[in-house]
Amino acid sequence: MQVTGLDHVQVAIPEGGVAAARRFYGGLLGLVEVPKPAALVDRGGCWFVGAGVTLHLGVERPFAPAGKAHLAFAVHDLDAVRAELAAAGVPITEDTLDVGFRRFYAQDPFGNRLELVSRDEPARVQGLLGERGDFQVSTDPARLDRAWLAAALSERAYWALGRSPEVIERSIQGSICYGIYRGRRQVGVARVITDQATFGWLCDVFIDEAYRGQGLGAWLIETIVADPRLAAVRRFVLATRDAGELYERHGGFGPLPNPERWMARIRT
Ligand SMILES: CC(C)(COP(=O)(O)OP(=O)(O)OC[C@H]1O[C@@H](n2cnc3c(N)ncnc32)[C@H](O)[C@@H]1OP(=O)(O)O)[C@@H](O)C(=O)NCCC(=O)NCCS
Repeated sequence: MQVTGLDHVQVAIPEGGVAAARRFYGGLLGLVEVPKPAALVDRGGCWFVGAGVTLHLGVERPFAPAGKAHLAFAVHDLDAVRAELAAAGVPITEDTLDVGFRRFYAQDPFGNRLELVSRDEPARVQGLLGERGDFQVSTDPARLDRAWLAAALSERAYWALGRSPEVIERSIQGSICYGIYRGRRQVGVARVITDQATFGWLCDVFIDEAYRGQGLGAWLIETIVADPRLAAVRRFVLATRDAGELYERHGGFGPLPNPERWMARIRT
């Protein structure tokens, strides 16, 4: 037997707790709610995904909060997370014992114990590809703001309208995902689907509306084509409706050399 990974964790919530769970796990912790399979909807509860997290909240009758068993969420900036939770009225318990990483405990709205862990403060800069003023380009998948991505791609990007959080998560896992950040706030994204050897497909290029027209899109493309992981890639392609000049000027892209040789199989 070989266990290949942790599929999900189930946490119990009380009857009528779904709204508070959504506010806490979705609104505050930034996990993205995904629909439950139709066959399970009647049981109540709700499901969330996040970076490396699949969380099922299920209704338990009678309910007793988990005081010892707990979820431990990894975060980058432990102090900022603590401040945000405290400001939202979440009970915080410190643990200063030296265990090789920093952590504290918190409670969800139902009294379930949570641990917040930061093993790698320097990991904030893991995947950092470029800095300009207070903007950064990073390929650290853990830094991607799943809620921003879902809203940007599935609601505002003409080619990805309706894309579900699960598909977005799978797409992140299967590509190099470039985020632009101002501090902790995500302001842009692009992905390259690539074997990092022979082929690359640039897609999902999106700059937040509030940050357009100040050179971020150009800088993102320039940073991507300079990524050493893509240096050996001979065929680097993309499709665009109206932003061709951006890719031409800032990424060196041009028309397909032999468009008649290309084929596509589109699932409708
Ligand atoms: C296209 C987009 C990524 C550009 O980002 P941005 O940060 O606003 O762009 P910049 O300020 O860096 O401008 C870069 C250059 O691209 C040009 N440009 C910007 N948007 C463009 C567009 N829609 N079409 C053509 N050129 C565009 C600018 O004129 C500028 O030219 P220059 O620097 O060579 O003079 C952004 O407008 C966006 O997210 N749009 C919605 C999503 C989208 O269409 N993505 C592209 C899908 S292929």
